[in-house]
Amino acid sequence: MISETLQKARDFEAKYAPFIPDSQRPAFHATPSIGWTNDPNGFSLYRGEYHLFYQYHPYSCEWGPMHWGHVKTRDFLHWERLPVALAPDMEYDKNGCFSGSAIELPDGRQMIVYTGVRRRLSPDGRMEEVQTQCQAIGDGVNYDKWPANPVLTDKDLPAGGSALDFRDPKVWRDEDGVYRMVVGNRTPDGSGAILLYESEDAVNWQLAATLDSSRNQYGRMWECPDFFPLDGKQVLFTSPQEMSPIGLEFHAGNGTVCLIGSYDPATHQFQRENVQAIDYGIDFYAPQTLLTPDGRRVMIAWMQNWNTLGGKPHDCRWFGQMSLPRELSVRDGRLIQVPVRELEAYRRDKVTYQSVLVNSETNLHGLRGRMVDMTVTVRPVSRGSYASFRVNVARDGEFATTIRYKPDTSILKIDRTRSGSNADIVHTRSFLVRPRDGEIKLRIVLDRFSVEVFVNDGEQAASATIYTPQEADAISFDAEGSVLVDVEKYDIVIPS
Ligand code: FRU
Repeated sequence: MISETLQKARDFEAKYAPFIPDSQRPAFHATPSIGWTNDPNGFSLYRGEYHLFYQYHPYSCEWGPMHWGHVKTRDFLHWERLPVALAPDMEYDKNGCFSGSAIELPDGRQMIVYTGVRRRLSPDGRMEEVQTQCQAIGDGVNYDKWPANPVLTDKDLPAGGSALDFRDPKVWRDEDGVYRMVVGNRTPDGSGAILLYESEDAVNWQLAATLDSSRNQYGRMWECPDFFPLDGKQVLFTSPQEMSPIGLEFHAGNGTVCLIGSYDPATHQFQRENVQAIDYGIDFYAPQTLLTPDGRRVMIAWMQNWNTLGGKPHDCRWFGQMSLPRELSVRDGRLIQVPVRELEAYRRDKVTYQSVLVNSETNLHGLRGRMVDMTVTVRPVSRGSYASFRVNVARDGEFATTIRYKPDTSILKIDRTRSGSNADIVHTRSFLVRPRDGEIKLRIVLDRFSVEVFVNDGEQAASATIYTPQEADAISFDAEGSVLVDVEKYDIVIPS
């Protein structure tokens, strides 16, 4: 059934989104039709196409009562727009349809599981949000909310679990035919935990286990979980709020954490072996994954962060974009992420250089562009021959986004101080990398309003949004000392 609230949102986007020219959006990163987005939701395969829903407030570029926007794709790069999927139109979700996920049911319908939010006044006069898990069933365009909603409430929480921080269900179906979902929750110590629920029929859910919890070590509330096997390990993702940095591994504020370990499905025991950040850049949050038919685990995230919203362009018609979907694997106990291989089909105009000596500002013929896939490999001319190396992109006389590497500390720094935003927000992020035989390899993907850096074949990734005018499209290198540089650069051309 299409409620008045949903119809109003659909009419609004149909009427006003066409005013936003494609040239004012990223060419291959997903954006909202109009207005605001935050988390990716319901990233899943349905009837042979990948669907992506997103936290959506069409009416302004601000967060507001959450709807679910909707796009789909066959190649993770062309995003076809579909009408708004969910609106906050029921008593149990009247203040927002928060994040969640989707799967295809055996009967061919698509099931969405999301968090319904309802505000109430607490006895001591605070406005608080009751969060419950809800379901909707549809055909890939229209969805009916489940008559028995909500399907999980405070009654389904473990002792002491907070009904006010109980959100972001990620659902899947295992080979044993059982439906399972993980949901974020806040424990009595004030920090986060990930709960596992099971269901035989995708309707009646039982709490199975608390998979892991922060115990105030990795941030406070744990939002947006995902849980999946990968390369013989089990991976738990979460996006903690109120993180504290631990060296250069995490950073303050809203972070992302990947816990890699082992899992015993019989006892639901998850044993952590390694904990790392998912993305080491500035703008990245709330990642979610799907499994492709050819067995790839592909992740997408909100390429933005709650802590950097101050950088929003003042005249924007859309705000918030998704990361490039990334193929995940585990190597040496660590998460590896590389751009989806589909990107390679859109590479044009290859430019290569081998062993170019860089010892001062260097501009190479053919290196420019704002929709680019470029790999730069850097090695010293001889031991200790350089103190730092820089790649500058989105550059002209005024602007530049810089990726700088210092071999003595093995620190890579992404710097978007001169990238079109004068807001007093975080513009740099530094992290430790692992050079291989003195060499470092940087794959840099640019798409009009973003930079994503993949270090050493995906050992680490760092993402940042930029608002640099598109005319600033030079790419240059620079070194303190002398380095040898190999370059392989393509333009990315996405036919409409
Ligand atoms: C994460 C988050 C989720 C919530 C949604 C609301 O960014 O806070 O926990 O469901 O955003 O828009």
